[in-house]
Amino acid sequence: MKRTVFIIFPVIFLGVAWASSDLSDLKAKYARPKSIPYLDDNKYTEEREILGKNLFFDPRLSGSNSISCSTCHNPSFAWGDGLAKGVGHGHKVLGRKSPTVLNLAWTEKLMWDGRFNWLEGQALGPIGSEAEMNMKMEGPGGLVEKIKGIAGYRELFAKAYPGEELKLELIAKAIAVYERGIISGEAPFDRWINGDEKAISDIAKQGFQIFNGKANCVACHSGWSFTDGSFHDIGVKDNDIGRGKFLKLKSQQHAFKTPGLRNITLRGPYMHGGNEKSLEDVVEFYNRGGNVKRESLSASIKPLNLSADEKKALVAFMSTLTSKDKPVDLPILPR
Ligand code: HEC
Ligand code: HEC
Repeated sequence: MKRTVFIIFPVIFLGVAWASSDLSDLKAKYARPKSIPYLDDNKYTEEREILGKNLFFDPRLSGSNSISCSTCHNPSFAWGDGLAKGVGHGHKVLGRKSPTVLNLAWTEKLMWDGRFNWLEGQALGPIGSEAEMNMKMEGPGGLVEKIKGIAGYRELFAKAYPGEELKLELIAKAIAVYERGIISGEAPFDRWINGDEKAISDIAKQGFQIFNGKANCVACHSGWSFTDGSFHDIGVKDNDIGRGKFLKLKSQQHAFKTPGLRNITLRGPYMHGGNEKSLEDVVEFYNRGGNVKRESLSASIKPLNLSADEKKALVAFMSTLTSKDKPVDLPILPR
């Protein structure tokens, strides 16, 4: 994906002269991928995507027939729910925020604590979880029987996975094919990366430099979707030890998955517990070096000494990562 740039010319910007070759190298690291990865044993077909979309939006996948994946991963809230913490079965508040499901086709370790691998391995988790969708999975009255009892689904499965038995694994696979296609569209930032100097403001460009330089946000928020897919303790204050529950390593105590930053302006409140209300609050949080000093705190988290203008520039830059995506058409569910 690395691009070669043949013409190099100096630019003057905010009083600082940079060789544009430096900036082109940096910009190249953020180029959008050209295709979506699918697993070898669960390739893309349009029929699978359609089936997966129906399942994703279908509340009948829950024990109460009233909660779908889209209840908490709602396209109207950039595929989250706009709440500090998710609300599950019986209106119980969950322990963590519902993250967006945007741009996850590239991510192996899922959840705030990385306990599931790939979208295919994650999809059944919330359906069977008592706290979330509270659906019986196997046996009489279970999910497979329920879905098999809906003629429209029998047809959709036959088209999507011809000759295969309708079982839990196929339900997960179909949902994952749909999710892999949930990708944020081209944002002003991408247009700038592609050479349109007017696509973002000078302040936002300065913010991009700070993000990659003085504030070193890129240490964790790297690549086109702004995540290293890894886990860090950034000093959010609470008793949740995150990935530490699965890995005893010191660095993984209180470590949570680095969220991507695409469409971030639409995704507040922020952090795994919804602790920070606005992007301004997030920048203040990083500027003071997090809220708690612990042994596990990442070495990249320390006071940043940003000026008021530099903080504004960071927020302006992050705001250029939001795309104007087309509203999602809801499926007419099979009967
Ligand atoms: C009641 C709200 C709720 C429902 C319903 C729900 N989720 Fe989630 N989802 C969450 C929360 C909360 C998390 C984070 C939990 C954690 O990390 O411990 C999450 C995490 C995820 C993740 C991981 C995202 C990441 O960045 O790692 C994916 C993918 C996901 N859900 C997909 C689904 C699918 C598919 C369904 C339907 C089968 C679904 N969810 C139903 C609340 C919900
Ligand atoms: C050491 C790695 C690391 C560095 C450096 C870092 N982040 Fe983060 N970022 C994370 C992790 C991990 C989270 C989630 C933490 C949590 O919820 O407990 C996060 C969360 C966020 C969120 C909230 C996302 C959401 O979906 O709630 C924003 C916005 C953000 N970071 C922006 C920045 C900015 C701006 C900088 C630089 C000033 C930065 N980050 C530096 C790892 C990092």
